[in-house]
Amino acid sequence: MTVRFRKRVLRDSEWYRTPQGTAYCGNSLELLPAIPDGSVQAIVTSPPFALRRKKRYGNPPEHEYVEWFLQFAKEFKRVLKEDGSLVIEIGGAWLKGSPTRSIYQFELLVALVREAGFHLAEDFYWVNTAKLPTPVQWVNVERSRVKDAVTPIWWLSKTEKPKADNRRVLKPYSASMQKLFRLGYNDGRRPSGHVIGSKFGTNNGGAIPPNLIETSNTTSKGRYQDFCRDHELVMHPARFPREVPDFFVRFLTEPGDLVLDPFAGSNMTGAVAEELGRPWVAVELNPEYLEGSVGRFEDGIVKRS
Ligand SMILES: C[S@@+](CC[C@H](N)C(=O)[O-])C[C@H]1O[C@@H](n2cnc3c(N)ncnc32)[C@H](O)[C@@H]1O
Repeated sequence: MTVRFRKRVLRDSEWYRTPQGTAYCGNSLELLPAIPDGSVQAIVTSPPFALRRKKRYGNPPEHEYVEWFLQFAKEFKRVLKEDGSLVIEIGGAWLKGSPTRSIYQFELLVALVREAGFHLAEDFYWVNTAKLPTPVQWVNVERSRVKDAVTPIWWLSKTEKPKADNRRVLKPYSASMQKLFRLGYNDGRRPSGHVIGSKFGTNNGGAIPPNLIETSNTTSKGRYQDFCRDHELVMHPARFPREVPDFFVRFLTEPGDLVLDPFAGSNMTGAVAEELGRPWVAVELNPEYLEGSVGRFEDGIVKRS
């Protein structure tokens, strides 16, 4: 059920509502203080990246990034439950005119642990299988670098043991594992020296996934894209692939737990939470992106404010 907050600043910023969630238009720094302490189970977000050229979604410059982000981190920590999680997908960047990389996303991680007091529960990586070979100069012309296809995702937590259950994100077993279940196997010592115990052949309903999410984000078809085209709205240029919020919302929350995306963009996190029966709150600065995000929800599901 939609969580309703009483604070006026939130009521005035409400953009739309669905059975499970509310999208607010505004600056998270101004709106988050109206969210009660310890009310959010998971923050799943992708903040503006520190790129050299400002994109349309207002990226802070690299040298100010950590200071800028720490202001939000203080609020994130306050609104999270004690066993809550903060998941940050944060893209890398090449330094201008140089075949070397910025280290801002690592500096941010260090600051979130050392200064903001979060724990690094686990680092994840999203491999974008459809990534184009850029920057052209280093990758295609000089051929001295390869495609940068991996985006880090930092899973942080307030305590050492945040709520999490990998049984909610099991993957289908590999073909060889399925064969092994059918035909059985001999336990004992392998030629490699490993000892395989008798529990190895137990079917647990799926394989435990690694800290690697493989998917592309090139979909040009879909309800969101159609809606933006039909209404002549700008499609968000840096959208989550569905698989990223889907994995973390399942893994770190249960139905009924509140999910927050403070940099919501096209509100993929809210749409996934809606489908998975988790109440959600989304905050986005740019009204045009929020307008487009309406297209992620079924016709009639959205109540306009
Ligand atoms: C990388 S995008 C998020 C994209 C999103 N994950 C999606 O799937 O569409 C970051 C978003 O943060 C928004 N933003 C930047 N500063 C903000 C702030 N202070 N408060 C709220 N939103 C902000 C930008 O407008 C941008 O849409």
